[in-house]
Amino acid sequence: MTVKMIIDTDPGIDDAMAIAYAAADPNIEVIGLTTVFGNVYVEQGTRNALHLVEMLDLNCPVAEGAAKPLEIPLDPPSHQVHGAEGFGGLPAPTPSGKAISESAAEFLCRTCSENPGEVVICAIGPLTNLAHALRLDPHIAHTAGKVVIMGGSAEVGGNITQFAEANIFHDPHAAAEVFAADWPVVMVGLDVTHDIICTSQDFDKLKAYAPKTGGFIKAISSFYLDFYASVGLTEGCHLHDPAAVIAAAYPHHFQTRDMPLSVILDGERRGETQPAPGASTPLVSVCTGVDDDGVKARFMAAYRALS
Ligand code: RIB
Ligand code: CA
Repeated sequence: MTVKMIIDTDPGIDDAMAIAYAAADPNIEVIGLTTVFGNVYVEQGTRNALHLVEMLDLNCPVAEGAAKPLEIPLDPPSHQVHGAEGFGGLPAPTPSGKAISESAAEFLCRTCSENPGEVVICAIGPLTNLAHALRLDPHIAHTAGKVVIMGGSAEVGGNITQFAEANIFHDPHAAAEVFAADWPVVMVGLDVTHDIICTSQDFDKLKAYAPKTGGFIKAISSFYLDFYASVGLTEGCHLHDPAAVIAAAYPHHFQTRDMPLSVILDGERRGETQPAPGASTPLVSVCTGVDDDGVKARFMAAYRALS
């Protein structure tokens, strides 16, 4: 069955990899992109999302979302990881399209309400838009089919700090609201994304399989690989955001454990996600294991199927 998916994103290099993967997978119908600050400023993210829609022939709307977190000041964008414009060393793209007039939260609420139970929201940036959507229309907790997030970590510590994963770190209050809402949430965190590694040779293959899309991914990946190498990870880069899209459509590649989660809101552990046994908040389905070869093979195969 085809999965109807809205991707909430801060594109971003691995975001672009995830969106291109989703566009290539015949079992996924991308029905919209919503943008959020994070890897880049939200205006840059919206522009990059519009470029991806045009390059990938996605034919779906882009709705711009939050420019800043719910309660804390905006962190500087992660230009050292994703490049000054979000696509590594490439210059700013110049898409011809425009974002729709609805905000990301409005688009999420309306689309889920018009397709009750059918839409998977795959959130691969800070969770601010999802929190705004819950505030705008709490009923979205019942109309959204499933929420799959790339973010957090249950047992392996953080990446942006020793304790926190970047997407949760950038807006811990939003993450806490998303985890507290009564909707089905799957957390694809560092516990599994650190096991899925793509090498420079893999990106060469993507370019050979699909010169346009794979070539673009190859071009942006070199900056990302350089960042990983600069922090001692010379083997390759993690497929964080593609893992969440794949988990949304192919959950059998992942082992999960249901647990309540708490989020540290401030201090040096800001953004840390912690299992909270006995807490009264809803259970989150936390990915604790992954068939990394299966996920990687699926990622590669999607590009191979492109013309
Ligand atoms: O921690 C990985 C996440 O942070 C990914 O979503 C990546 O795009 C960055 O934003
Ligand atoms: Ca992201």
